[in-house]
Amino acid sequence: MIRLKNEKQIDGIRKSCKLLSAMYRELIPLVKVGVQTIEIDRWVQEWIKRAGGKPVFLGYGQPKNHTPYPAAMCISINDEVIHGIPSKRRIREGDLVSLDCGIDLGGFISDQAISIEAGKVSKPVHDLNIATRECLYRGIAAVKAGDRLLQIARAVESHAKVRGYGIVHEFCGHGVGLALHEDPQVPNYPHGPNPRMNNGMVFAIEPMINLGTGDVETLEDGWTVVTADNQVSAHWEHTVAIINDQVEILTEPLEGMVS
Ligand code: MF3
Ligand code: CO
Repeated sequence: MIRLKNEKQIDGIRKSCKLLSAMYRELIPLVKVGVQTIEIDRWVQEWIKRAGGKPVFLGYGQPKNHTPYPAAMCISINDEVIHGIPSKRRIREGDLVSLDCGIDLGGFISDQAISIEAGKVSKPVHDLNIATRECLYRGIAAVKAGDRLLQIARAVESHAKVRGYGIVHEFCGHGVGLALHEDPQVPNYPHGPNPRMNNGMVFAIEPMINLGTGDVETLEDGWTVVTADNQVSAHWEHTVAIINDQVEILTEPLEGMVS
């Protein structure tokens, strides 16, 4: 069931989204070659606590995972697609570092992901990163009250497909705002339910696009999702709302800072 949000609820979700993007703005300059991903997560946990929020991913459990997610942020490097667990691993020159985080601010949930190029990445990786971000904005441009949701999926898919990239099918965007994962599912290829988009809908659009195959596997830690061919993957995500027949991007654009 899709929960439509009223104006007051959207105000709360917007605040949560602005806080999340403000956190990213301070964090991005710290995501550099030599830094351990666990250090990034500690910083994130501290920042969110100080700002009066709660990290939504920390302790989050999905039925098919045996262990609750152990960190505030997902940090997925190169062939890691999503749900990379922060560790002692250090960021290296040329890595593509995908960050994904959500904040609970007074019960209102935000969700945003970006892929950061550490130092100089190869041209194919840079091009993939730019194209993935473009997929996100193509998807957002396809949001229209009264139209069908899978219009988003078609826009994302076509932008990735003509470039020969693999589109991850196993994971998708989602309704968000009062919980991290709400209806509807927002896939990156036309598949499944195709409800009408309506005023009051809030959802996360999050293309996960690969240099090679779109097939993925989950590691033994129960969380880390990697590409089946170990080629690089990129991930960009915004939380958006439909208000007064307009789409509003609730999280803030961060691309000026990362590539
Ligand atoms: N942005 C991701 C999602 O929407 C992150 C979830 S990570 C989890 O699914 F740990 F919270 F599961
Ligand atoms: Co999400």
